[in-house]
Order: sequence, then C-alpha cells, then structure tokens
Amino acid sequence: MTLPSSQFPDLSDRGVLVTGGGSGIGAALVEAFARQGARVAFVDIAAESSLALCEKVAAQTGQAPHFIQADLRNIEAVRAAADEAVAKLGSVRVLVNNAARDDRQALEAVTEESWNESLSVNLRHFFFMCQAVAPHMQRKGGGSIINFSSIAFMLNMPEIPAYSTAKAGIIGLTKSLAGKLGPDNIRVNAILPGMIVTERQRRLWLTEESIARMQERQCLKRMLVADDLVGPCLFLASDSSAAMTAQAMIIDGGVF
Ligand SMILES: NC(=O)c1ccc[n+]([C@@H]2O[C@H](COP(=O)([O-])OP(=O)(O)OC[C@H]3O[C@@H](n4cnc5c(N)ncnc54)[C@H](O)[C@@H]3O)[C@@H](O)[C@H]2O)c1
Repeated sequence: MTLPSSQFPDLSDRGVLVTGGGSGIGAALVEAFARQGARVAFVDIAAESSLALCEKVAAQTGQAPHFIQADLRNIEAVRAAADEAVAKLGSVRVLVNNAARDDRQALEAVTEESWNESLSVNLRHFFFMCQAVAPHMQRKGGGSIINFSSIAFMLNMPEIPAYSTAKAGIIGLTKSLAGKLGPDNIRVNAILPGMIVTERQRRLWLTEESIARMQERQCLKRMLVADDLVGPCLFLASDSSAAMTAQAMIIDGGVF
C-alpha cells in the first residue's frame, strides 16, 4: 500500500529536530520533513544507518539533513545536541522526541541498574530535550513538540514493566509541559503508535503469527508501517493543528 503524502506549506523552511532519526519511524519522519522543504537535524547513537539516511535524503531532495551523533542517555550530550541543532538550523520550531529502546525484561530480572537504564533511554532525555529547546522556541514566538509514547502501556504487557512506565510517563510529561509552555505558544502533544512493523521490530520481536494476531485486534486489517506515522506527525508539527495541545493521538489501526 502506498500512503498519500500531504503537503503542509508552513513546514517549508521550518527548523525541525528529530531524536532517534537514524532508523525506523524516526527515519521516515526525517525523510518526510525534508520532503516538506523543512530544515532537518536529527540525533542518533548509530552512525552507519544515520549516514546512509543522509545520503538517501540528499539524493531525494538535494539537501542532506544534519546528523548529530550522540547518546541521549547522557544529558550533557542532549543539551549539546539541542544547541548544535539550533546553531545549524538557525531555529528549531519543531521537536520530535522519538528515540527509545523497547527491551524486554521479566519482573524477576529487573535490577536497579536495568530499571534506571530503561528510564534513561526511554523517558529522561524527553524531558531534558524539551527543557533545552523550549527557550529557543520561546524566543521565536512558539513551536510544536511531539513526544512518542506507545499504546503498549495500556495493553497490560507483562514483559516490559520499565518501558511501559516510561511510555505512560511521557503522557504525564506532555500534559505538564503543555500547561507550562502554552502561554508561549509552544504546543506539546503525544503520539501513541500501535504495532508498527519496522526492520528492528521484525528482527527482534515480531513473527508472522504475532503480526497476524495484532491485525485480528485492529479494526483496520493491515500491517502498520513507519510511514503511517508521517501524516499524524506532520499535522501536529504544522500550524494546521494550531489550537491542539496537551493531547495524546493514538495511531494503531483501532486496537480493541
Ligand atoms: N515500532 C513500534 O511498533 C512502536 C510501537 C509503539 C511505540 N513506538 C515508539 O516509536 C518510537 C520509534 O520507534 P521505532 O520502532 O522506530 O524504534 P527503532 O528502534 O527502530 O528506532 C529508534 C532509534 O533511536 C535510536 N536510539 C536508541 N537509543 C539511543 C540513544 N541512547 N541515543 C540516541 N539514539 C538512540 C536508535 O539508534 C534508532 O535509530 C519510539 O519512541 C518507540 O517507543 C514504536
């Protein structure tokens, strides 16, 4: 299935920063923002896939996105990445907090260390990236922040206690920051994807059977892919959603 590509003229030339943009959903978003004519920077820990994406986007649009290699578990690196993106792009008016790692862990196997590690890769940098970018958005008269949560925390999934905690926390964070930053015309919304079949998900967790089982639970009987997140994310980034903040948008094909 080829997904339609909408055009949001106000995103042309807009400064956009995506975390975890080197692969999966983040890479689809980097490509999509670039096709809108936005000036895009992205942060990722993985160099190889990120550099390949830069080449691909440059071939498509004539302009490579700006890749910042950083480990978002390190808060100083988060702050430095925000500053680098602002310096490179001139301004950051859209922030997509997307980077995460959905490692599985049984209740009995969780240690203090692994708990902190999960929150560090799945939650902590979301706050500190917002904190670092907000002053730049305030100076520019506003912005849009999109935080990637997940429906996983609502599905009672037993093997991801720390990941689910982080993804639920992102909803609370989104609503608190929306309250704080609304007076500065900075909107903060969350996207909750359902089962999105990416290369990593297939490699690590998904089987043909688990994909089929999820489709039985979806109203829409097809596999969801990274490009399914593009339209909703562009909409939340653009002024088309100018009155929308503090909301959580579920993109899961209608799981019941
Ligand atoms: N794929 C799904 O089914 C699904 C479902 C619900 C929610 N989500 C959420 O959507 C977002 C994207 O998911 P995805 O499936 O594309 O993930 P992915 O694993 O394919 O991509 C995540 C990216 O983040 C990067 N990353 C990981 N740790 C990092 C670190 N410490 N510093 C910098 N970069 C780091 C990775 O290198 C990778 O490029 C995540 O927030 C995820 O929780 C995904």
